[in-house]
This record gives sequence, structure tokens and C-alpha cells, in this order.
Amino acid sequence: MSINLVTEIVANRLLNSDTFLMEVKFADEPVPGQFVMLSMVDGRTDPYLPRPISVFDWNDGVLSLLIKVVGRGTELLSKMKAGEKIRVVGHLGNSFPDTEGTVFYVGGGIGVAPLLYTAKRSKAGKKVFFLGFKNDEAVIAQEFFEKYGKVVLCTDDGSCGMKGYPHNALEKMLEKGEIPGLICTCGPEIMMESVHKVASKHSNIQIYHSLEARMGCGIGACLGCRVETKGGIYLVCKDGPVFNGKDIF
Ligand SMILES: Cc1cc2nc3c(=O)[nH]c(=O)nc-3n(C[C@H](O)[C@H](O)[C@H](O)COP(=O)(O)OP(=O)(O)OC[C@H]3O[C@@H](n4cnc5c(N)ncnc54)[C@H](O)[C@@H]3O)c2cc1C
Ligand code: FES
Repeated sequence: MSINLVTEIVANRLLNSDTFLMEVKFADEPVPGQFVMLSMVDGRTDPYLPRPISVFDWNDGVLSLLIKVVGRGTELLSKMKAGEKIRVVGHLGNSFPDTEGTVFYVGGGIGVAPLLYTAKRSKAGKKVFFLGFKNDEAVIAQEFFEKYGKVVLCTDDGSCGMKGYPHNALEKMLEKGEIPGLICTCGPEIMMESVHKVASKHSNIQIYHSLEARMGCGIGACLGCRVETKGGIYLVCKDGPVFNGKDIF
């Protein structure tokens, strides 16, 4: 059962040139992989539709959201200040599975967002994050992930961490014989497909992906987030956002 609430922004601060961390009061506890829909409450109809944002973290009734400015909606959100009101509908969607043993988390760009809380809540004994960014200036939230496991940082141009994509680093680790029971991934579709290709050579790894789509309602009513995959047609908001790799790639 999701909650539709006008609530208060506790803090909103820039982490780098285009990504900010917003904290809002929201007592309902999410499960890993879920998202919320954010919208304005001051009568503004620009943008008209709410915007889907993943749970980055949740602590004692405060929900943290890691948001990248890509257009009008996220730009307006980036300018909001502590004390202002915002509408939050959530928590929405399904969740990542979990396992004991080893879990690898693979994220690209703002796709790292749902992986922090997922790892924080995991019972895995060993957690490794493969985080990929365009360059050193685009790296975000590394210090948050370091609290929960080892971070393998990758940049496309090699300006920071390993040069290459996160699936390249993942492949090296798998070749060394470090095989996790589960991989959770989120980021550009091409990255998730590459992760799937590399990891599915090992039949004993479960691979789960968090998909993105443009969303109108977030609850399965508008059909705006319909995606066609190998396994069929899904609504990302209602059937996902987390999907078993076998069903989509
Ligand atoms: C389940 C889910 C979780 C998400 N979690 C996060 C998150 O934690 N942090 C975050 O920053 N963003 C997240 N997003 C993406 C975020 O919702 C969009 O970036 C945002 O809605 C864009 O709104 P806008 O008004 O700023 O941009 P618009 O003006 O609507 O669009 C600007 C550009 O972004 C592209 N775009 C917009 N929405 C999406 C989308 N959903 N997927 C791919 N491209 C898009 C458009 O094609 C356009 O090129 C998530 C999306 C989904 C579906
Ligand atoms: S966003 Fe409306 S059906 Fe998914």
C-alpha cells in the first residue's frame, strides 16, 4: 500500500555540478529497489507529471534521494530548499532479491542510486560495488558506498579509478574466480545488457536489473512505462522496476 503525502524537505545539497542529495521526511520504510514519485505542491503545473526517483537511503523516517538534473522537473527539484513542502507518493514497485554469501552491485552514472540502500539492507557477508562514471568530475556518492563494501571505481576515460566500463571490471573479477551468488545492477540499458552477457557465462549467478522508463502515474494506470523485452511486455512501475535478467535480456 503506497502513501501519498505532502511532506517537508529536510535538506537539499549539491554533490557535484549536476547531482544533488535531497532528504525528505517520510516515515514509511521502503524495501530495497523501490522508488517514489515526487511532485510540486505549490499549484505549479510545470512540469505537470510527477517524477520517479529511487530510494537512495532511508533512516529513521528520513528518505534520501540522489537526483541528477536532466530536464525541467529535476532542475526545479534541485532548487528546492530545506523547509519547503513536496508531494511524495511511495513506496512503489518491487524489490531486489537478497542472498547470503557474496553480492556484487553494478551501477552506471545516476543508476548507482538504488544500490546503496539495497546493499545496506542485505545480509550478504561480502559486498562489492562496481561503479562506473564518465570521468572523475562525474563520480558521485563513492563515500556512501564505501561504508558497506569494497568499491571498484571505473571511469570511461580513466581519469579516476580503472579505465573502462563497470562490466569490464566485473568480468576481470569473475575471471579471477570470485563468483557472487547474486548481481544487482542499475544504469544505462547497454551497461546492464553487458553485465548480463558477462555474468550469465556463470550459470549459478542470479542477475537482477532495475529498469528505467518514462513514467506518468507510477501505479500501472497510464501504461506510459510499457517496455517490450525478450520475455514479454511489462509495465516498469507495476511489474518492476526490478526484473530477473532471464526475463528481459
Ligand atoms: C523507477 C525509476 C527510478 C529512477 N530513479 C532515479 C534516481 O534515483 N535519480 C535520478 O536522478 N533519476 C532517476 N530516474 C530518472 C528520472 O525519473 C528522470 O531523470 C526524470 O523524471 C527526468 O525529469 P525531468 O523533468 O528533469 O526531465 P525531462 O524534461 O522529462 O527529460 C529530460 C531528458 O531526460 C530523459 N528522461 C526523462 N525521464 C527518463 C527516464 N525515466 N529514463 C530515461 N531517460 C529519461 C528524456 O528523454 C530527456 O532526454 C528514475 C526513473 C525511474 C523510472
Ligand atoms: S507509469 Fe503509469 S503505468 Fe507505469
